[in-house]
Amino acid sequence: MATLVGYKKIKTAVFISGTGSNLRNLIKFSKSKKSPISINYIISNNHKSKGLQYAQIFKIKKKIFNFKKRIVEKQILQILKRNEINLICLAGFMKILSKNFISNFEGKIINIHPSLLPKYKGLKVHERVIKNKEKFTGCTVHYVAPKLDSGKIIIQKKVRVSKRDTPQIIAKKVLKQEHKLYPKAILKIFNH
Ligand code: GAR
Repeated sequence: MATLVGYKKIKTAVFISGTGSNLRNLIKFSKSKKSPISINYIISNNHKSKGLQYAQIFKIKKKIFNFKKRIVEKQILQILKRNEINLICLAGFMKILSKNFISNFEGKIINIHPSLLPKYKGLKVHERVIKNKEKFTGCTVHYVAPKLDSGKIIIQKKVRVSKRDTPQIIAKKVLKQEHKLYPKAILKIFNH
């Protein structure tokens, strides 16, 4: 992973699909003095994504793409290059990026996942955690590799599961920790 050169912040794109609470949190973090990154682009696969509001609020460029079209990744790569993006943070982004796309950003795409990977890859994580009567779950920030939720782990945080927890309660508890963990992971990557 690139190191921070001089005082320039690393230009970062955040990919979202939904609410964007992690995006909002990363924008807030990026504005702090200690942040090695700036958020310069927001990409979504979904025009209904609530998180897109933050593009307007914080005056960040945004673009929505229909990922069903093959040409899309090529177009995104062009945009990222044109905007000198050097880091991609996936934040609740629900599409799978191709091997070719990932190789164009080798070691520069990270993701946050709401489980203690390698446990509970994929979707419906909290439902499966409850079904298996887990006492702990958590969240993970990891590098993105072509195989889903399988790249090298950067940092994790454990969250206790109580007997009466519903998937919604767990999601809320985990998300709260995600908001602390994503900035921590970025600081760790850039040796801060
Ligand atoms: C987060 O819990 C994130 O970990 C999860 O979606 C939520 C997005 O919330 N991501 C995945 O499940 C990726 N496979 P947000 O839109 O409020 O940041």
